[in-house]
Amino acid sequence: MTVRIKKERFIPFLAILFLLFVGLILIMIHGCSKEAGGPELFGYSEEQIDELEDLDVADEVSESGYYTPGLAAALDDGKFTTKYMKYFEDKSGGITDKDIVTAARLSDKGYSTKVIRKLFRKLKDYEITPLIVFDYQSDIDAYIEDCMDHPDNSTERFELDGDYVTYFDGAKEADTSLGKLMLANKTNELGSDFLPGDRTTLSSEYLNNGAYNVTLNKEAAESLVKWADDSEKAGTPFVMQSGFRTYSTQVNVYNNLVNEMGRAGADRVSARPGFSEHQTSYVVDIVARDEGPHTLDDYKNTDAFKYTHKTCAKNGWIMRYPDGKETITGYDYESWHYRYLGKKTATRVWNSKMTYDEYYGLFIDKWKDSDNKPCKAIMDTAQEAYD
Ligand code: DAL
Ligand code: ZN
Repeated sequence: MTVRIKKERFIPFLAILFLLFVGLILIMIHGCSKEAGGPELFGYSEEQIDELEDLDVADEVSESGYYTPGLAAALDDGKFTTKYMKYFEDKSGGITDKDIVTAARLSDKGYSTKVIRKLFRKLKDYEITPLIVFDYQSDIDAYIEDCMDHPDNSTERFELDGDYVTYFDGAKEADTSLGKLMLANKTNELGSDFLPGDRTTLSSEYLNNGAYNVTLNKEAAESLVKWADDSEKAGTPFVMQSGFRTYSTQVNVYNNLVNEMGRAGADRVSARPGFSEHQTSYVVDIVARDEGPHTLDDYKNTDAFKYTHKTCAKNGWIMRYPDGKETITGYDYESWHYRYLGKKTATRVWNSKMTYDEYYGLFIDKWKDSDNKPCKAIMDTAQEAYD
């Protein structure tokens, strides 16, 4: 009796064992074919795989899953490198082309590979890119801890307790040769002599009551007028309160605010002379035309604001000082202050949810050591990801 039961159980047991064996064989075959198929699994084309084999890195690349669209494009350009492969281990799912640029920028700023890898392991993208805007942090653990203490931070809002950037003192000279892409902020100074040419005066129909002689860069003005006309057609017209400001106008603006609220308060809401984006000639302050009370502060409560917020990027503009990004921009939220960058860059910056300070630091700023700069294919692909 006992023997019979044992036999009955033994047969299914054998069947299961057989199935497990077959399964194991299949897994092994699949594993081998994966290895043989190599990097194509990660997106490389047949030709690119041949190229990786010629470079004798196919196995390495295949084992680590080292692939980004930028690396594939770099391969076509003969610029492929395994330099960034180590970072692949630090983020689940591997790194993106933006991560490669971030790592390269951090390296250019003086951070060691060890620190960069730690940042990738511990922090989110939106916690890392501000470091490109901030000063070099010798105590990176304190920064990481500050980020951890703010679990509500996100791509939309970013707050920290510590101070990580020195404003004004030791500011760099802004690179005005970049035209509409120049960066003016509390660490990139235009100075008292910078006076952009190529300006035009806006017709009075585009101005708020009491505003006069508002000038702007010609290309920016052309785009603005079309955008303003469209907003009127949409039933939410906006008009300009202010545009280009000379250095001396900014002296008056800033000093009046210092008298009103003291220096620390004024520095939150106004640029010091020589540091204002208004001096670039690519900026406007907007108010709603038909929705009272027509002040800058009230703009955020209007339908015109909703319209400009939704349509700015496709018209070539960004809202430069967003709510929740004060730690990075250095200024309080300004729903009314729009910056012209041209359609391509404005769209990329807006879609990236980064501030222009971060975007500029990643993609536009000069490199201290050009050896740190990833190849053009990676730089381009990283930006195109935001199109
Ligand atoms: N209100 C902005 C920050 C400026 O003064 O340029
Ligand atoms: Zn402004």
